[in-house]
Amino acid sequence: MEIQRPRGTRDFLFKEMKERKYVENVLRRIFEIYGYSEIKTPIFEELSLFTTKSGEGIKEQIYHFQDKGGRNLALRPELTAPVARLYLNELQKSPKPIKMYYFGSCFRYERPQAGRFRQFWQFGCELVGAKSPGSEAEIIAMAAHCVEELGLDDCEIHIGNLGILRSILADEGVFGEKQDQVMGLIDKRDVEGLKSLLKDLQIGSKSRNILLKLIDMVGHREILSDVEELIKDNENAYKALKELEELLKSLEAFGFSDYIINLGIARGLDYYTGTVFEIYVHGLGAQKQISGGGTYNLIQVFGGEKVESTGFAFGFDRVMEALKKQKAKIPVAKTVDVFVAPIKEDTKLKAFEIAQKLRKVGISTDVDLTGRKLKKVLSHADNLGTSYVILVGARDLKDGKVTVKNMKTGAQEMVDVDDVAAELKNKLLQTGMI
Ligand code: HAM
Repeated sequence: MEIQRPRGTRDFLFKEMKERKYVENVLRRIFEIYGYSEIKTPIFEELSLFTTKSGEGIKEQIYHFQDKGGRNLALRPELTAPVARLYLNELQKSPKPIKMYYFGSCFRYERPQAGRFRQFWQFGCELVGAKSPGSEAEIIAMAAHCVEELGLDDCEIHIGNLGILRSILADEGVFGEKQDQVMGLIDKRDVEGLKSLLKDLQIGSKSRNILLKLIDMVGHREILSDVEELIKDNENAYKALKELEELLKSLEAFGFSDYIINLGIARGLDYYTGTVFEIYVHGLGAQKQISGGGTYNLIQVFGGEKVESTGFAFGFDRVMEALKKQKAKIPVAKTVDVFVAPIKEDTKLKAFEIAQKLRKVGISTDVDLTGRKLKKVLSHADNLGTSYVILVGARDLKDGKVTVKNMKTGAQEMVDVDDVAAELKNKLLQTGMI
């Protein structure tokens, strides 16, 4: 019987893990220089954490189950709701704003395809308790900083404000679940479905036209005057537009002006209230969205006070895919720098001892554990890409020596066994290998 990996999941091997680790560390570094601290929440949560805002319908899209104690649980499909829960459980009394970041796997019961998995990773953050638009601008600037630092090509950051669409719907008496249904169709770009729902909801032709025009408004700052013209009679939509303009001003102060305004962003999750943004890498095709986020209201939905919160998450797997597509050179560290090879079985224990001395001074070292013939051991060391091999022979040891072979040049030299760790450390440091 051959046991298969579950559908929509992947195994990651050595090189890929090293590349992922590198990218993870870049993101970690950037998030931390913006003052974020890492948190970790459970992989499974109470099912109600995800159904409270989104309704029972979300159960179709997530993994949920009953445990042996009869509790209804779900594998997390994202991390914003868990972080809001964590805030309510642990951090309500902490000084604000609270800047948290996370890296963890999420699970969604989706039809697997390129760039869409059932287990995937998000690298994201939540900024709880800071007033927009400065906080929203800082978050978008940080996302842009990450993109720049990773060297992602062909990337566009689109910014919108859900308050504009939602206010027009609210003016027509469309609230709550119905409003979320409209936003869902906009998110899916299902224009026909949208038209028919707007008709069913008996939305007046003027508002219908405004909505259909708005979702196609994508461009640079210049489009803002057209938007203003379109929505000027709706007080709340107008307010949301002014909020967007304020955000753009702050964003420019943070040094980022290469954005695209996109009033058709609706976001798939229904907790967003105002500013929203998405990052696209067009080369990725249908799953081009590598990141998404915005301002939301979840803490209040879960029974807390109204706390201004903004966040976003990179789809880590899509970031990796985008880097792979553009053939980015991701630095991959070698696994071992030095290999210790006993020439014969009789020096095996001495080889172990030497390997351990090297490890204790911080050199990544491997030692033969198989008892194979020297030729095979050397070829294994070569395959691992080690820089040096230490040959441990009985005759050399009698003089207190071992032979150090430079695997790149083939040059060999005799070194005192007591000095070999320090000498190799120097060599590796000098050549920038460690
Ligand atoms: P989201 O847009 O649903 O937002 O997910 C964030 C990112 O995760 C997406 O932009 C996409 O790159 C990636 N992603 C989503 N589903 C999959 C999948 N099935 N396979 C691979 N990648 C996927 C959120 O989850 C929000 N919690 C983001 C947020 C944080 N908003 C505020 N704070």
